[in-house]
Amino acid sequence: MTKKRVFSGIQPTGNVHLGNYLGAFKNWVARQDQKENYFCIVDLHSLTVPQTPAQLRQETLSLAGILLASGLDPDKCTLFIQSHVTAHAEGCWLLNCITPLGWLQRMTQFKDKAARQESVLTGLLDYPVLMAGDIIFYDAHEVPVGDDQKQHVELARDIAQRFNAQYEVDFFVIPEPVIPEAGARVMGLDNPLVKMSKSLAVVRGHAVRILDEPDEIMRSFKRAVTDSGREIRFSDDPEKAGVNNLLGIYQAITGQSRDVVEAAFADARGYGDLKVRVAEVTIEALAPIRKRYEELMADPAELGRLLAKGAEQATAVAQPKVDQMKHMMGLVLPQ
Ligand code: AMP
Ligand code: TRP
Repeated sequence: MTKKRVFSGIQPTGNVHLGNYLGAFKNWVARQDQKENYFCIVDLHSLTVPQTPAQLRQETLSLAGILLASGLDPDKCTLFIQSHVTAHAEGCWLLNCITPLGWLQRMTQFKDKAARQESVLTGLLDYPVLMAGDIIFYDAHEVPVGDDQKQHVELARDIAQRFNAQYEVDFFVIPEPVIPEAGARVMGLDNPLVKMSKSLAVVRGHAVRILDEPDEIMRSFKRAVTDSGREIRFSDDPEKAGVNNLLGIYQAITGQSRDVVEAAFADARGYGDLKVRVAEVTIEALAPIRKRYEELMADPAELGRLLAKGAEQATAVAQPKVDQMKHMMGLVLPQ
């Protein structure tokens, strides 16, 4: 039986946090045996907002270290840097030429990000087309992501379908988003009404970063915003968003059901106890990652070799697909 093909990506913009881990790459690691996997460090996506060049280079390699330290196995998945596989940028242009502008102007992430900037780059609008190419040039069936990327994966489906309809072929596989039951939307510890994000991770007490020291993690959880009540249960009530978030983190880390999680806290002595216990399971989950990360980063030559191998494997899939597209769209391929 052939394995389902999986593609996902993450931006090398630093401050990789618990939301990224629980919403995305913990699940990449967990299912890597059952799938044929492509995981991409999407550096071209990061360029859609201003970056400091030296920092972007450093964060790109650091992210590769974090992903490998979290358990991605280079023998079971292809891990690569997006800009190393030129088919992504090349194919993005081809997709641009079949994608209506209106589809991009409707994207909520674009509207949010554009509203927060004085000068909006063209690349920011085009971001979801680049992402669609990432996925469909690999004929990926499944795209494991956090909740915030669902709309982008749906756009990838629309673009794939439009190409297939326009050229009257089943050329692209239509991908499905795969969103985890717990951890799909980890909220800020300082404000449980906003999503935990890399850009807010510089604010004290907002995020738990994957590489944070244990006492820093404990401190962040102890400061977490809750409510004035005492009830420890899952809830959609915005008043209880803080407690709900802490329970959701505990659930995603331990892999237990909601009922089991609530039962585990039946004997808790108030929110203080809840915070400490969530911090403890988080510290326990992240400690081995931090240790392995240090080891991996001590050998940059090996890391470079792994990424070069990944780029070669990815190119072997994506470039022929893009070449075929070029031919279908009427371009003459070089002899
Ligand atoms: P990004 O940080 O935007 O590159 O996101 C990388 C992956 O992490 C994507 O699959 C996102 O959906 C996921 N992600 C980002 N923030 C969160 C969050 N607060 N909760 C859950 N998943 C998240
Ligand atoms: N836009 C995604 C994010 O910020 C990252 C991404 C780029 C991605 N290309 C992708 C995710 C392809 C899944 C598949 O989270």
